[in-house]
Order: sequence, then C-alpha cells, then structure tokens
Amino acid sequence: MKIEERRDFLIQSMHGIGITLCAGTLGSLLQSCEMNEDSVTPDINTLPFDIDLTKPEYSSLSVIGGAVYANDPNGNNGNDIIIIRLEQERFLVVSSICTHQGCSVNLPSSDKSTLFCPCHFAEFSPLTGEVLVQPKMGTASTLPVFRYEFDKARNMLTVYLLGNG
Ligand code: FES
Repeated sequence: MKIEERRDFLIQSMHGIGITLCAGTLGSLLQSCEMNEDSVTPDINTLPFDIDLTKPEYSSLSVIGGAVYANDPNGNNGNDIIIIRLEQERFLVVSSICTHQGCSVNLPSSDKSTLFCPCHFAEFSPLTGEVLVQPKMGTASTLPVFRYEFDKARNMLTVYLLGNG
C-alpha cells in the first residue's frame, strides 16, 4: 500500500472509529437520560411536617372554617404557619408572616374574617392567601402557600414546608 493510500485508509478508519465512539457515548448518554427521567429526585428544599389533627391543639380544624397556627422549628424559618380547613378534605396552608414587613398575621375571627395584619392593616384571603387589602403604605404580595397531603383515615395532614435558610 502506498503512503497516500495508507494515509487515506487511516483517515477513513479514524472517522469510522470516531463515529462508533460518538454513537456509543451518545447511546449511553441517551440511556442515562432515559433512566433519569424515570427516577424521582426528591426536592431537598421541602420538609414534611406531620400534623396529627386528633391532637387537642388542632381541634379547631375539626370544623370547616376552623383555623390554627402550627410550628415546625425546622421549616418556614421557624415561623408559624396558618392552616384553615376549607372543606372536609381541603385546606389552605400559608406562612403566617406578612409579606409587607414581616409581622405575624392574625387568624380569621368574628371581628375580621380575613387574615389581618395588625401592623399596617393588610388583609389576605382566608381561601387563597392573596392580598385583599394592601397595607396603609407600600405593598404586600400573596402569603407563601405550602403544598400538603391529607390522610383521611389517620386524620393526618402532612405539610411540605420550605426548610430554613
Ligand atoms: S407588616 Fe403586615 S401590613 Fe405591614
């Protein structure tokens, strides 16, 4: 084989090997991507907080419209959350911290049916946590709402809080 022919042969061979390597690598990459799609990555920023609704401190939640504060020192930066029972198996779970300047928001009461902030008088919806009345100065936004699961058989509410940070 002449030198030019050998060079061409090697170039052709290297292209073939390169394509094979690329295909092999791509194949395993695609396979790993497919495997990743199947696996569930836990959200490290959420913290399950189990609330046993049979406990006396949560007795207000036995009726629709009932509301309580609850606290897990490991979540929501150690601040209280507010839980309101909207229906038999539906709740609103929000942070109790006013989004205006950080005061603690009141539970709904006979005086005020909203989540009322006594500092600058903002009011939030007890159904969604959205702002109904802006503070006397500045603006507030919707209270942070937390995801939850309700185990009716055990009367257990699991709230997924954001961890402290
Ligand atoms: S801190 Fe709540 S209205 Fe200002």
